[in-house]
Formats: sequence, structure tokens, C-alpha cells
Amino acid sequence: MSAIIQPTSLLFDNSPEPVASLNEFALDEALDALDPLRHLRTDASDSTRDTVVVPSQPRSILDETIRLTFPADSPLVSISLKVDASHGCGGIAWPAGEVLSNYIAFRGIGYLQGKKIVELGSGTGLVGLVAGALGGTVWITDQAPLLGIMQQNVTLNGLQSCVSVRELNWGETLSSDIPPPELILAADCVYFEPAFPLLVQTLSEMAIGGSTEILFCYKKRRKADKRFFTMLKKKFSWEEAYDPNREVYNREAISLLTLTKRP
Ligand SMILES: C[S@@+](CC[C@H](N)C(=O)[O-])C[C@H]1O[C@@H](n2cnc3c(N)ncnc32)[C@H](O)[C@@H]1O
Repeated sequence: MSAIIQPTSLLFDNSPEPVASLNEFALDEALDALDPLRHLRTDASDSTRDTVVVPSQPRSILDETIRLTFPADSPLVSISLKVDASHGCGGIAWPAGEVLSNYIAFRGIGYLQGKKIVELGSGTGLVGLVAGALGGTVWITDQAPLLGIMQQNVTLNGLQSCVSVRELNWGETLSSDIPPPELILAADCVYFEPAFPLLVQTLSEMAIGGSTEILFCYKKRRKADKRFFTMLKKKFSWEEAYDPNREVYNREAISLLTLTKRP
């Protein structure tokens, strides 16, 4: 259920950078060295001003519980989500995660029923929890500091029988504890340049040939993201998922892609 998209300048344009843009690039790199996560706080899709990215909660949030329902227009799944920014950037729900949650709920109960699903960079676990509530058997994964809040959210929603929490650091050897999935989910995982090759490696090792479905929801924040897609292109091709809400989130520089591993 996907439509081929026209190449966009961000994802496919290999033309040389003009000089002014190269200077911007060098400035970007220098600022990254000082604060690698600054792109999560500002929106580089608008290069004329530093707009605040639109997380659905303020960043000062500590130990709060929110309720989110999907799909937004005709709720099917309702999730209580503990959010706490003190666990790191993954401790709150990001817009791309909400877009991906909305999409899988829009596809309906039959889509995920009985499927083995792994979510990468789960943060609070939102997307994986929605997948579990929709009938999938899910492994939500992230780095060690997030595992506690992920487990609390599994328990809060009574999804222990179908959602398991595991540590998974991109680029590390995959644990036999997580079976090869039929579907991989990832939302808002492109923001920290040193992790780009690690994420591509994990996606590539986890996907079995072209048969593993991958839903990859991405928010464009800066020009350097192009380097991620250059790396990704060596292992995967992609299309934009067919989603009637696409126009709305495309305006926020969010894209939902289906990736296919190259033979
Ligand atoms: C911006 S947050 C997105 C969280 C969640 N997917 C959402 O959409 O709300 C990015 C997530 O990627 C995780 N992450 C970053 N680098 C990682 C790595 N090397 N291995 C595993 N997870 C990583 C972070 O811990 C964080 O939870």
C-alpha cells in the first residue's frame, strides 16, 4: 500500500553544494561538535529562523502521563504514556512517532495481527505500544537509560503479554533474544551524525532480504541528514507510504518511508 514519490532535493539530489551552502555546512558541523543534539531543539527545515520543533509536550516535562489516541480522526487505540525528559531526548514523544503511530492505526487491526515487530530507538515506546495494542508481537528497543520508562509504559497499558523491552544499541551485534522481525518500525531516529552508519548497519542486519517490511518515519532537520540517505541508499531503496494524512505532516518536514533492502 505505497505510492512512488518524486525524488526530493533532500533525499536524492546529488548535485554539488554551492559555495555559500558549503560555508553553512561547515558552520553546521562546528555547532554540531559543540552540541550534537541541537537539531532536535531547532527546526532546520526553515533555514531563515530557529523555530522550535513541535514535540507535543514541553521539554521541561518531568514524570508526567499523557494520553494519546490513534488514528486521530476515528480513535481505535488509546495509549497512556509516561513522559520524562530527564531520561534523554527519547523520554518524550516526538512528532514523527505520533505520525507513525497514526499510520499503523489507520491501517487497522488486520494489518499487524500476529506479526513479529521490532521498533528501533523507541524512546518512550509509543509506536511499539500502539503496534502491540493492534495485535502485533513487539520488541521495543533503545539504549539503557530509556529501558525503565519503556517498561513502565508497557505495564501502564497492560501490554506485557505482547510487548517486550530490550536494549539494542545500533551497530552492535544483534541479540538472539530478539527474533528476526517481519516489520521494523523507526521514528525520528535521524539526528545525530555519528549514529548514521550504525543505524544503517542495524537496519541492514535485521532486514531479511527484501521480505522484511520497514516503516521509517523521518523529520528533516538539517542539510547533513542527506549523508544519512546517501549511506542508506547503498543498502535500501524507498518509497513514501500511502497515507491520506501525508500532506499535513509533509508540511512539518516529516516523511513516512517504506524501505526495501537491496538484493
Ligand atoms: C528523537 S528520539 C525518538 C524517540 C521515539 N522513536 C519517538 O518518535 O518519540 C531518538 C531515539 O533514538 C535513540 N537512539 C539514539 N541513538 C541510538 C543508538 N545508537 N542505539 C539505539 N538507540 C539510539 C534515542 O535513545 C532516542 O530514544
